[in-house]
Amino acid sequence: MQILQDKNIVLGITGGIAAYKTPELVRRLKDHGANVRVVMTEGAKAFITPLTLQAVSANAVSDSLLDPQAELAMGHIELAKWADLLLIAPTTADVIAKLAAGLANDLLSTLCLATAAPIVVCPAMNQQMWHAKATQANINTIAARDITLWGPAEGEQACGDIGKGRMLEVDDIVSKTCEFFSVKSLANQHWVITAGPTREAIDPVRYISNHSSGKMGYAIAQAALNAGAKVTLISGPVGITAPSACQLINVESAVQMHQQAMKMAESATVFIACAAVADYRVENIAEQKIKKQAGQDSMKINLVKNPDIVADVAQLANKPFTVGFAAETQDVEQYALGKLRNKNLDMIAANDVSKAGQGFNSSDNAITVFTADDKHDIALASKHEVAKQLVAFIEAKAELKS
Ligand code: PMT
Repeated sequence: MQILQDKNIVLGITGGIAAYKTPELVRRLKDHGANVRVVMTEGAKAFITPLTLQAVSANAVSDSLLDPQAELAMGHIELAKWADLLLIAPTTADVIAKLAAGLANDLLSTLCLATAAPIVVCPAMNQQMWHAKATQANINTIAARDITLWGPAEGEQACGDIGKGRMLEVDDIVSKTCEFFSVKSLANQHWVITAGPTREAIDPVRYISNHSSGKMGYAIAQAALNAGAKVTLISGPVGITAPSACQLINVESAVQMHQQAMKMAESATVFIACAAVADYRVENIAEQKIKKQAGQDSMKINLVKNPDIVADVAQLANKPFTVGFAAETQDVEQYALGKLRNKNLDMIAANDVSKAGQGFNSSDNAITVFTADDKHDIALASKHEVAKQLVAFIEAKAELKS
């Protein structure tokens, strides 16, 4: 049986030059057995004709929300229900912004809201537009809503620029689609992931914390979900949205995170400590806001050690495969290996947080992953890409059986 046999794919095409590749994409998806129905935006029709897509898909092309004839053939709600996958390739910056805003002012954006099928976007745009802060914020928003991103790739662009923003090659999109429909390798696995910072109260209005945004841990949660795992995300206070398919447990302090982690780790197959946990907390939290005292030019706050969450999980009798992170600014490998040993971990991701453009609060990261007898570099890429590779590496090393 072909891998995409009986799979219904709605292919959304938007107005970018890469639209000229979509007839080949349709043909290749059909070669693997998929049923393909094409939806085009007005912009897409400036680059490729509906007739071409109708010929290769062997189905009428939909391009209007308000066309009574088209609605008679297959209405937008029917189309939304028909889809096993809504694949948008190429996806312009404009359409990504629409998805982030939740607009429904044409057929494709309406379908995105109306479908329960997974949505995948393949961005294609000028490299400067891809790096624009607005586009990156929109990408983070849609990723947090479980919309999957394939690409973009780097290279020479139609406009002559060189950089990130090219639509993935048709071959890559087809193989990712096949992978998407393949059996989920982490089915029946329970992954528990800590993410974000902790806050250690000083008094009712002040706290000690750090710059962790939660992006890395949340991306790992999404990657594990994509691979079929049940995911519990124990998160400190962050400003991003957790994948809706995970079980989210919000905490503030290290002690609260410890309590939840010990409880959830009992049933976990994998535990990943990505959170930036405060090593110390305030010994005596003031009940009222601390006031400045006349003549007092300095003050001392006594700190006591917090429980080491990942080390305690690694001591459990039925210990899950336990992965730590080591955020370091110097002697990264040496400190990471020390933590791997001292905390009795199965794996540690060394994260050099001294470099600009990676680590705390950035959208990209680069890590080196160590086990007792192996070392694996994951090069600088989006945190979602790094997470995907990390999940695959854990899967290989932990020899997880679904
Ligand atoms: O959240 P982002 O902005 O995306 O940034 C991601 C990140 C930089 C926070 C992340 O990639 C990372 O490196 N997380 C670990 C941060 C950290 O606190 O590292 P550490 O070297 O201090 O701690 C070592 C390990 O022990 C970590 O797995 C940590 O979660 C764990 N730990 C530490 C202290 C403690 N009391 N309990 C713990 O479980």
